[in-house]
Amino acid sequence: MYQKIKEAANYMQRILPFTPKIGLVLGSGLQPLAQEIQNAVIAEYHQVPYMPHATAPGHVGQFVCGYIEEQPVICMQGRLHGYEGHTPESIVFPIRVMRAMGVQTLLLTNAAGGINTSFSVGDFMLIEDQINFTGKSPLIGPNDEAIGPRFNDMTFAFAPDLREKAKQAAHTCGIPLKQGVYIGVNGPQFETPAEIRAFRTLGADAVGMSTVFEVIAAAHCGLPVLAISMITNMAAGVQMQALSGAEVNATAEERSQDFRKLVREIIKML
Ligand code: HPA
Repeated sequence: MYQKIKEAANYMQRILPFTPKIGLVLGSGLQPLAQEIQNAVIAEYHQVPYMPHATAPGHVGQFVCGYIEEQPVICMQGRLHGYEGHTPESIVFPIRVMRAMGVQTLLLTNAAGGINTSFSVGDFMLIEDQINFTGKSPLIGPNDEAIGPRFNDMTFAFAPDLREKAKQAAHTCGIPLKQGVYIGVNGPQFETPAEIRAFRTLGADAVGMSTVFEVIAAAHCGLPVLAISMITNMAAGVQMQALSGAEVNATAEERSQDFRKLVREIIKML
């Protein structure tokens, strides 16, 4: 596995005239930020050795590398999800590649359903911790010590200093930032109202179908994470109305401008 990661990282390093400092993963509907990257160098996933392909709607499937707020970034425009049929290990392949390229901070974004009833559609939530409810882990199987230890800590996976910076950045740009626990599920079906009540009892504030494996792999290879959810809808049963992918995308588009402003301000501070 480490050889494959190295090969992919070498390919990216050959085509890039700089070393990215920040790895950025854009969630559903949050893709427009990739268009704002300056001096962009693009690598489509199929050009990168061993890189899986993205198939989720609205997820393009390319690395866009360049500068945001004068910081060198590598951005995944198009995320990999378990519901597409990707294994947890292949989902985290690009995270490990970013680490091997020299990335120092992983900035994850996602669309999520609001479980906490004090949240509103369109809110942003700083992820302070996660519950991996998928029943899977990207670390199952033989451990490659060249990547990370067999039993890795998760206590500080969501780096406290980065969370402080995100709060400051939100304050600076006047965008309210909620905080909470993200619960990651497999999908692709949305949850039932009973599942959402159960998740609330477990201590979750928002639910989504991504992120948890990426965080686990980042913690494993010693890459600090900052993660932000956009609450694109209230989770099932919070309001007695049906959920749809269209609602998720419509909110993401509506809130896209503030989201980009917040992410830019955060990147400035990293
Ligand atoms: N559930 C799961 N994933 C999601 C949701 C949701 O309500 N909204 C956006 N992603």
